[in-house]
Amino acid sequence: MAFFKSATREVPEVRPVPRHVAIIMDGNGRWAKQRFLPRVAGHVKGVETVREVVRASIEQGVEYLTLFAFSSENWRRPVEEVSRLMQLFMSALEHEVKKLERNGVRLKVIGDMGRFDARLQTLIEAAEEATAANARLTLTIAANYGGRWDLLNAMNRLAAEKPESAGQWTEADLEPYLSMAYAPEPDLFIRTGGEERVSNFLLWQLAYSEFYFTETLWPAFDADALKEAIASYQRRERRFGRTSEQLGEQGTSKSGTK
Ligand code: IPE
Ligand code: IPE
Ligand code: MG
Repeated sequence: MAFFKSATREVPEVRPVPRHVAIIMDGNGRWAKQRFLPRVAGHVKGVETVREVVRASIEQGVEYLTLFAFSSENWRRPVEEVSRLMQLFMSALEHEVKKLERNGVRLKVIGDMGRFDARLQTLIEAAEEATAANARLTLTIAANYGGRWDLLNAMNRLAAEKPESAGQWTEADLEPYLSMAYAPEPDLFIRTGGEERVSNFLLWQLAYSEFYFTETLWPAFDADALKEAIASYQRRERRFGRTSEQLGEQGTSKSGTK
C-alpha cells in the first residue's frame, strides 16, 4: 500500500503546485454572526465554498484535496447544531455526487463512521463506490475524524494483524493502516478563520506540510484565496531536514523553481 514517499523516510519530490492540499474549514459560525444570521447559515454558505474550492483545485492542478468537515470533538457542540451539520452532510451527498462523477472527482470519507446513523453511512458508501474510478481529483472529507483516533485505530489494527513483530514496528508498518494510506502526505495545510492550531486534524501526515493561516472566514474563501495560498507555498523552501546550500546544489530549493 505504500505507493507514496514518506517525508521522514525519503526526501519527497517537490512540485510547483502542491499535489495534496488539506484544509481546516473554519469560521462558518463567525461569518454568520457578523451578518446577524444563525450559525447554520454559515455552514450552508460553507458548502458553497466547498464547491468553489473543489473546482478551483482541479483548475490549479491539485490532485488531492482534503477537507476537515467535522472533528471528533465537534460532538461537544449544541445538539441542534450537530444535527443540522449532519443534515447538511447528508443533503450534500444526495445532491452533489452526480456532479462529482461528471467532473472526475473520486470521493473518500475518513473518520469514525460508526457514530453516524445508518442512512448516512449508506450514502457515504454509495458515493464512494459511484466515484471510485475517477482520477482527476481525490476529494477527502474528514468527518468525525481525529488525528489521535486515526493513529490509535491504525496501531490497534497493526497489533491485531502482526502481533509477532510488536516491538519492532516501523513507520512503514504503520502507514498502510492510517486512514489516508491512499494519498501522498499533504504538501500544503490551510486553516481559514484566523485560528492557528491543528485541532486534532491529520497529526501524522502533517509532519512536513507547509502551514498557511488566513483570517478569511471559510464562507468567504474562494478561488483567488486558494491561489494566494498556493502562491505562498511556492515561496517556501522545503528542506526536509537539509540545509539551504544542499538544496541549491540540487536546484530544488523552492517549490516554485522546479
Ligand atoms: C467550521 O466553522 C465548521 C465546523 C467546525 C463544522 P465553525 O462552526 O467552527 O465556525 P466558528 O469557528 O465558530 O466561526
Ligand atoms: C476544527 O474547527 C474542525 C473543523 C473545521 C471541522 P473547530 O472550530 O471545531 O476547532 P476549534 O475547536 O476552534 O479548535
Ligand atoms: Mg471554529
